[in-house]
Amino acid sequence: MKALVLIGGFGTRLRPVTYTLPKQLIPLAGKPMLYHVLDLLPSDVEEVVLATGYKSEMIDAFVRSHPLRWPTRTVPEAEPLLTGGGMKNAGSGMSDPFILLNSDVIARVDLTAVAAVQGRSGALGVMTLAEVEDTRPYGVAALGPDDRILRFVEKPEPSESPSRWINAGLSVWRRSILDRIPPGRPVSFEQEVLPGVLDEGVYGFKLSGYWDDAGTPERILRSQRLLFEDGRATRTGLPPGSLGRGPVAADEGVRARGASFGPYVTLAAGVSVGPGAHVENSIVMEGATVEDGAFVAGSVLGPRARVHAGHRLTGQVIGEAGEA
Ligand code: GDD
Ligand code: MG
Repeated sequence: MKALVLIGGFGTRLRPVTYTLPKQLIPLAGKPMLYHVLDLLPSDVEEVVLATGYKSEMIDAFVRSHPLRWPTRTVPEAEPLLTGGGMKNAGSGMSDPFILLNSDVIARVDLTAVAAVQGRSGALGVMTLAEVEDTRPYGVAALGPDDRILRFVEKPEPSESPSRWINAGLSVWRRSILDRIPPGRPVSFEQEVLPGVLDEGVYGFKLSGYWDDAGTPERILRSQRLLFEDGRATRTGLPPGSLGRGPVAADEGVRARGASFGPYVTLAAGVSVGPGAHVENSIVMEGATVEDGAFVAGSVLGPRARVHAGHRLTGQVIGEAGEA
């Protein structure tokens, strides 16, 4: 089986960090969001096709310098084609069936089991579904017997939400789904294609483990915490000479003598945290600086951002080279 990964979104809800970086390269628990979702792929996948658009060259460069376990190809879009258009654009040569992944979700799921359900039933598609309280930001499924999807509504008003089971963004499709997407223009798979193919047999696969979409400041930090709790962090341990409570995923070169850390922190390469400063529940990207005595919580600091001495920063996203 091959896998098609959608990576073309603008990451608008994570601005200003995403003005200079695609959200998929933001590190969570020590490694980019994209690599956490790819960790879910079975090891025997034949090829990974990355449907990129926004900041495609950065994804391409990163994947070249951090090669995946599978042969990998990037198919960029000149204009954003949305999810369905991206599938169509990148879909030639897809296997039958194929795995389709959104690149901004984190989960514990066995995709081999999802593929097996598709294989046994011969269904057009099997979509993993997560149960959430607030369905408004997601696509919601109404389920019939055997979890067949009877209706699908993208981003419904609460009063119109048919259930609490939402599209988790990890699915398996017969290749023929690609024939149902009009070529050469932006197409929302969820709004324009999916409702029209349900009568061909699309089933839900209910997730029992954790799931989240890391596309907003609040959810990216919640996602990071879930990954830490699931033991999926890389390079865990406090930087030399620092104090406090992990888990912290710190790059080797991080300087943080005399600083303290709360739980759930990523410190990327070249980060410096001054004496007396404290960082918790945050993502601190390459080359960022937290000066002496500053306090940072619930925040995302972009590459080379700076938090000034003694400053208190909570619940903020600071863009590349931004200051607070
Ligand atoms: N190639 C390409 N081109 N990819 C795109 C484009 C595009 O124009 N637009 C978005 N994507 C990618 C994003 O990078 C992301 O990985 C995925 O498609 C979904 O886009 P989002 O913008 O993150 O959508 P969403 O989170 O609002 O909703 C989607 O995901 C939810 C689960 O997280 C939908 O699929 C919902 O139905 C679903 O519940
Ligand atoms: Mg999303």
